This record gives sequence, C-alpha cells and structure tokens, in this order.
Amino acid sequence: MGRLRIGVLASGRGSNLQAILDACREGRLTGEVVVVVSDVGDAEALERARAAGVAAVHVRPGKYRTRLEPEAEKELANTLVEHEVDVVALAGFMRILHDDFLRAFEGRIVNIHPSLLPSFPGLDAQRQAHEYGVKRTGATVHFVDPGIDTGPVILQEAVEVRDDDTRNSLAERILEVEHRIYPEALQLIADGRLRVRGRRVYVLPAGGTREDGEPF
Ligand code: GRF
Repeated sequence: MGRLRIGVLASGRGSNLQAILDACREGRLTGEVVVVVSDVGDAEALERARAAGVAAVHVRPGKYRTRLEPEAEKELANTLVEHEVDVVALAGFMRILHDDFLRAFEGRIVNIHPSLLPSFPGLDAQRQAHEYGVKRTGATVHFVDPGIDTGPVILQEAVEVRDDDTRNSLAERILEVEHRIYPEALQLIADGRLRVRGRRVYVLPAGGTREDGEPF
C-alpha cells in the first residue's frame, strides 16, 4: 500500500498544514504532502511547505474576493493533477471552489472547520460560538460538497467553552483538537477505511487495504 499523496490548499498561517507535515514525518500518517497551493503569495503556509522541502505554488486568484477566477481554478486543478494527489486537504483555504473543480476531485476533497458542524458554518466559527454562548463547540473534518461547510462529516471532537474564555482562548483550544483530528482523518483515508453513503461516512474496522490511487 503506497503512501497517500496529499495536496494541501491554504491561505494563511498554515498550522494545520504543519500538523499534517509533522504527522507524516513522525509516521503517524502514512502519507506525504506532495504540494501546497495558496491563493496568497506571502502566506506562511507556503514558507512552511518550502521549509519541509515540499513544492509550494502560488496561484493568483484573479479579481474576485471569495472565489478563484475560472482560469485560476483550472491552474489549481492542473497543479494538483500534475502532482498526482490522491486527496486534496483544505486547511484554512479561504475561497469557495466550484463545480468543475469539485467534479475533478469528487469524493477526494476534505476540509477542517473550527466548530461542531452543522453549527456555525462559514467565517470565524469560533467567534460565532463564543457570541452565541454555547457550552460546547469543537472541530469537524468533513468531505467537501458544493455548499459552505456542508459535506459529509468524517470526524468531530467537542471542546468545552469556559466562562472565562475569550474568542481567542477558545480558538486556541479548538486548534489543538484540529491539529490532532485532521491527521487522524487523513490516516483513515490512507487506510481505506472510509465509505460515504449519502450524508453518512462509515469508518471500517482497521486492517483493510487501500488500492493505490483509490483512497476511498
Ligand atoms: C483553522 O481554524 C481551520 O479550522 C479554518 O481555518 C483555520 C486555519 O488555520 N478552516 P491554519 O492556517 O491551519 O493555522
């Protein structure tokens, strides 16, 4: 069974990317980040990629704010195909991806979101949860579908909201969970243990095998 070839898309700090890189290096994830793509030229994520010896690619997004221009989205898809990725991991990628891209990588795109979905989708989920006053929020790894943070859930873990939490202290504790469950979810994919049926993602018992190039 080969190592899972992971392409990471990130717009900013890249701490989840780092968690994935570390997990690969430490053997907790039988995968390899083969390319990191960002819509932001000076994103820390690209520096982290270079520091780890991973191809770092800047795709100029074009004139829109929340999505890529069609040409840019094609360039992104081509880059991922060239690097023969098995799975596309969104890690703080701040643009919505469209049909052609989603079709090209159908069932192979995952995302991490800092709330217990379907609560608090969209931007600044930590602030949303803090302001709402929930007692528990958390982090979710899910497959990506055309909606915003709406795809089938792979893993979730709850985080308690404390009375003295600020948005930032809460975000910090959620981030620790993110850094743990994102590599875990990718390992389930690497091990070929996920089956998606409608909205439900089933986790098969350990011990199966993954055919190369067929992660799910
Ligand atoms: C994380 O909170 C992630 O859940 C969200 O964006 C943030 C990215 O942080 N999608 P980082 O760039 O991985 O540090």
